[in-house]
Amino acid sequence: MSAPARLLVRDLAQVATSAGRDAPLRGAALGQVDVVEDAYVLCAGDTIEAVGRMRDLPALDGDVRELDGRGLCAIPGLVDCHTHPAFGGDRVEEFSLRAAGASYEELHARGGGIVATVRATRAAGEAGLTAIVERHRVWMLRHGTTTFEGKSGYGLDRDTELASLRAVRAAGGIPTWLGAHAVPPEFDGDGDAYLDFALADVLPDAAAVAEAADVFLERGAFDAGQARRYLEACRDAGLVLRLHGDQFTEQGAMALAIELGARSVDHLEATGADGVRALAASDVVGVLLPASALFLGRPMPPARELVDAGAAVALATDFNPGSSFTESLPLVCSLAATQLELSPAEALAACTVNAAHVLGHASRLGRLAPGHRADIALLDAPDWRYLAYHLGADLVAEVVLAGEPVELR
Ligand code: NIG
Ligand code: FE
Repeated sequence: MSAPARLLVRDLAQVATSAGRDAPLRGAALGQVDVVEDAYVLCAGDTIEAVGRMRDLPALDGDVRELDGRGLCAIPGLVDCHTHPAFGGDRVEEFSLRAAGASYEELHARGGGIVATVRATRAAGEAGLTAIVERHRVWMLRHGTTTFEGKSGYGLDRDTELASLRAVRAAGGIPTWLGAHAVPPEFDGDGDAYLDFALADVLPDAAAVAEAADVFLERGAFDAGQARRYLEACRDAGLVLRLHGDQFTEQGAMALAIELGARSVDHLEATGADGVRALAASDVVGVLLPASALFLGRPMPPARELVDAGAAVALATDFNPGSSFTESLPLVCSLAATQLELSPAEALAACTVNAAHVLGHASRLGRLAPGHRADIALLDAPDWRYLAYHLGADLVAEVVLAGEPVELR
């Protein structure tokens, strides 16, 4: 068998990757980064073979392709562990109304919001959804995201939910069945009847495509009893559990996530001191979505308190048409540093190592280290901390995905 093709990324200003060996990282380890100056990354096939200083680069025999790092900074390809990329249409009308003062919850209650996107997503069809998710994957890649989780949840009927999950898979994403996102209009507000249908008619096939299940536990969506029923059924079908919780109000999401051994509880804008303590004492990861809080003009989650209490946290975009229309994890890192009181180092860990842990892939993704997949984002910056510092920038100059340089434009 011939040796795998090698790629040398040379003459980088820095290679930066979180230092701690465990996942998820917590406490002081969250803030420690290994930085190699004047560095190279050597890839063999889809895997990183070595990282080191240019002056220590050994002579390489055989055929080695080169990518000129030309003073750029290399960080791990970013991992977006919470997105909703499978949606038809947009919500630009609603956005304009909100900009003029209407609230997200009001619009939702009036039949806009998630349910408006459900209509457009059902109309898109499977080919349409496949093209839409692929387009969104490219948007994410341009911002350095080499792995994304993608939720269903805008179909809420059998065919469109399954088509959404397959579309995420087809685009190389990791699908999560958000079968309990909202009660679709044909169930006329009867969440229990909707769950009867979803668990009997959709779960068996969804579980064959998705890796995780998610529920929106909130006033106006699903209550704690319904969330428990949905999550227990999904767990029994072999899915990892996640929750949208404490977004607007505390409705018991934290306690349920911990009791059921969920992988994560996401949002947490409304989490109080008890919730912070409980999460810190558990193995559940708090996924923080500051772009969503910004987009909706809501309070930011208590990130500093969570990290200081010892909780494992990740950062994600929550990319979706209604509450967070951004695919940029660098923007999220800037929000983490300016709004959440997290250091650039903590932000980096939260959208690499810890996000990979949320997706169950920390042994292979989220680090620039030998044996990890060769996913690399090259930043147009002299210091890797520009990831958080250069607010709203077009920061990602090059991306290497599984050992292959990708065309970004
Ligand atoms: O994570 N909170 C629930 N779901 C999405 C928003 C969905 C939408 O508004 O379309 C979220 O913010
Ligand atoms: Fe979300």
